[in-house]
Amino acid sequence: MPIVSSDSETNFVPDVSGFKLYDLNERGKGSKNISFVLANGTMHSHSSEIPTGRYKKAHRHSAGTHVHAVTGVGYSLLWYEGDSKFVEIPWRHGIMYVPPFWMFHQHFNTCDKPARYVACSLGSRRYPFISLRRKSSEGGGAVSVQQGGRQIEYEDQDPRIHRKWLEALRQTGVTSQMGDTFDEPAILSLPPEALTGVIRTPQSIGPAT
Ligand SMILES: [Fe+2]
Repeated sequence: MPIVSSDSETNFVPDVSGFKLYDLNERGKGSKNISFVLANGTMHSHSSEIPTGRYKKAHRHSAGTHVHAVTGVGYSLLWYEGDSKFVEIPWRHGIMYVPPFWMFHQHFNTCDKPARYVACSLGSRRYPFISLRRKSSEGGGAVSVQQGGRQIEYEDQDPRIHRKWLEALRQTGVTSQMGDTFDEPAILSLPPEALTGVIRTPQSIGPAT
């Protein structure tokens, strides 16, 4: 598999907090990313950064991805299709967590700086090892669930998600940069009954692929 410009083929990353990342707007405006091909092996690793006042789109994938928070402060939400409550994981430097197989997860920056993490899993771009990892390495992680992919587009997500984040930003004093995507006054004025029940998730069109 060819190495693309957003890959780094290496066996040593001296400072992951300052390593050059590349734009990956498909995962959310302003997102940055790089994939590492580590020592020509089967272990995948990538680093992503969420800009201030923004968060990433939700997605899901195979099991075993270890997410290590490197810089910044925020939280992640995890849920399965059909769930009524989110699992929330607050994070800062030193926190590591593992989204389970096919569980949606979404990463939110709530601080006044970009937030960066490193994720590691079995299955590199060069040697994906399992078919689900091969799909990820081919870009499937950024295709809408409604088109057979694994990502929830902003316009398809449950209103609780943006509401909760706006409330978190109110605590940290950070200004949302996502008002061009969401009608934030309308979301903040939703009545409690609009913020309960099964988490709104777009219809997927098939099994895990
Ligand atoms: Fe993920």
